[in-house]
Amino acid sequence: MPRYCYVNGQFAPHRDGAVHIEDRGYQFADGVYEVVTVADGRLVDEGPHLDRLERSLGELRMKMPMGRKVLQLKARELIRRNGLRDGLVYMQVTRGVAPRNHAFPADSVTPSLVMTTKKMNFATMKKFTDGVTVISTPDMRWARCDIKTTSLLPNCLGKQAAAEAGAYEGWMVTEDGMVTEGTSSNAWIINKEGTLVTRPPGNEILNGITRQTILALAAEEGIPVEERAFSLEEAYEAREAFVSSATSFVTPVVKIDDKVLGNGKPGSLSERLLGHYQDYAAGRRSQAA
Ligand code: PDD
Repeated sequence: MPRYCYVNGQFAPHRDGAVHIEDRGYQFADGVYEVVTVADGRLVDEGPHLDRLERSLGELRMKMPMGRKVLQLKARELIRRNGLRDGLVYMQVTRGVAPRNHAFPADSVTPSLVMTTKKMNFATMKKFTDGVTVISTPDMRWARCDIKTTSLLPNCLGKQAAAEAGAYEGWMVTEDGMVTEGTSSNAWIINKEGTLVTRPPGNEILNGITRQTILALAAEEGIPVEERAFSLEEAYEAREAFVSSATSFVTPVVKIDDKVLGNGKPGSLSERLLGHYQDYAAGRRSQAA
């Protein structure tokens, strides 16, 4: 079955998908994106992802490329064409194609929309059963990390540092030693009292949709939560840790830098939350929030 993408109004074979060399996404990373999990053919948390897409666009004074309903129909059509049951949909909107000039182009320039899909098998992921390691890496990003922009160079450098260290993720740390988030995920610890700790939303992190769902699931399950910043030192002492994102769900962390957490195996609360999240993603439970 050929794999399709969606580029500026057309479905095209994935290998032929292309945008113009003067697309502002290409030249300035002047764009935003979303990654939406597809589980059993359903888009998980579709509404919140599209709300965040609209928010990111608004913060950068960009327009939606089309009405929300039409976008949803196009995403479904792409999923259907690609026979996707489990995986993700990637959506990217840029400010469009215009002669290179840092200032915005005329309002008549239409935003570019690209969508692709990727197959994944969430049932057999080793990271869920074995856990992963993370390293700390300096947070070198800008002051609006709440916007889900394609401008991800500091994140790429951090992820590459992690990859070179044999780690799954880099936890970005500010100059005063506080963990903000992962390079492509949110960061969580579980302290000795069994409380979930994660940084509150603000300009320093992306407010993950998975993060928000986990908070709602934790509330339903009566698991105590503290939304506050935590330091790398505190993380080293944590009982458990995990990362969350559309593609990592709740991925247990078993080691941070050279500090092994607990017995070096995924913690029981992380495993429980992963189970709840998997049930939620597969539509086996609804959500309170
Ligand atoms: N990344 N923080 C950052 C910096 C991220 O890039 C992501 C997601 C998250 C988690 O957000 P969510 O739960 O909505 O996926 C937090 C996506 C998956 C990516 O860039 O591929």
